[in-house]
Amino acid sequence: MPEDVDSNEAIWKSDRAVSQWVSTAEERERRRDQQRRLVAELLPFGEDETFTFVDLGAGTGAAARAVLDRYPGATAILAEYSPQMIAEGERALGAYRGRYTYVEFDLNGDRWPADISGELDAVISSMCLHHLPDERRESLFAEILARLTPGGWFLNFDPVTSDDPGVRTAWQRAGHRLDPATAVEPAHRSPEEQRRHENHVRHMSPLPRQLDALRRAGFEAIDVYWKQLDEVIYGGRRPTRAG
Ligand SMILES: C[S@@+](CC[C@H](N)C(=O)[O-])C[C@H]1O[C@@H](n2cnc3c(N)ncnc32)[C@H](O)[C@@H]1O
Repeated sequence: MPEDVDSNEAIWKSDRAVSQWVSTAEERERRRDQQRRLVAELLPFGEDETFTFVDLGAGTGAAARAVLDRYPGATAILAEYSPQMIAEGERALGAYRGRYTYVEFDLNGDRWPADISGELDAVISSMCLHHLPDERRESLFAEILARLTPGGWFLNFDPVTSDDPGVRTAWQRAGHRLDPATAVEPAHRSPEEQRRHENHVRHMSPLPRQLDALRRAGFEAIDVYWKQLDEVIYGGRRPTRAG
């Protein structure tokens, strides 16, 4: 595939890439436990409240599971465009049967599937929206706001980039030192790893740009609720009344 072509879709819809991703999921989820729980705790629901939330780019439902575990009355709509990820998710989510539905949704398109209807109580996303160009991410923020119930929250756990090369180098250095097993230093990447890396970061966007986009979309209570190096949890809620 030519290097100027975005290969994310081909990767996420490939048996090989998805089974490789799934085979490393357990270890990844151990490292993300704190962030998964924080997203759940940031949602304003009571212990036994009944509500519906959407997980955009849900994959096998790792982020949604934390919310389903925290709130027994929660129901998840898992929006995803990869049939392979949906099949893996159906296998992984056996214990949650009846509390989730998968809906096919390409976030790069502009039409939300009819299966996601009515006002949503919350929208979450994890490790997905960095695959979208800035322009599409911003229009998606507006679409999310329009579908949220007044006071409904949107939270996104995602990697970001920085315009400052010094910051990027510091992130890389610390990331590698904290986790030498998973971080591959740029100088040690194979050509294939380098191509994958370049594709992975092609749409990655600086945090201030994404927060500005949330503001323009009309969210309030916007904050970076957690951050470590290039990973953040940011979000906000739909205002309860106009003005
Ligand atoms: C890194 S995985 C994260 C999965 C899950 N949210 C998690 O945190 O484990 C990225 C997911 O986003 C999905 N994805 C990427 N681009 C998408 C798009 N345009 N529309 C829908 N899903 C997309 C991929 O298929 C994949 O399941």
